[in-house]
Amino acid sequence: MSSESVRVNVEDVQREGRMELELGGRTVVVFAVDDRFVAYVDTCAHLGGPVCSQGSRHRFYTARVQQDGRVEPYFAPGGEVVIVCPWHGWEYDLNNGVSLADRTKSLKAATVTHDRDELVVSL
Ligand code: FES
Repeated sequence: MSSESVRVNVEDVQREGRMELELGGRTVVVFAVDDRFVAYVDTCAHLGGPVCSQGSRHRFYTARVQQDGRVEPYFAPGGEVVIVCPWHGWEYDLNNGVSLADRTKSLKAATVTHDRDELVVSL
């Protein structure tokens, strides 16, 4: 295996919801998101804060406008797919790493593949 890959136990990530690891000299965090896994470099696109390792997670709270103009807020289906940077509050969609406030900004993704009871994370 190349030094650019790390293996982690699937159950450990599922139990904790996230797992921090070192990969290619960078901190990468693997997340269990609903029934799948994603990983991102632990660097906020704003000013480099530890968004993945220290950010809090919550469900995606959004809204729709009714025909009569009323705004109806609601939680989108799915689990805790939004992570919030602890430094200045930027939020990211863990499904794709994209910033909710500025969709031109995103977290750097790592690749996650399944190998039996392990995940192989690579940059
Ligand atoms: S460094 Fe993450 S919001 Fe500013």
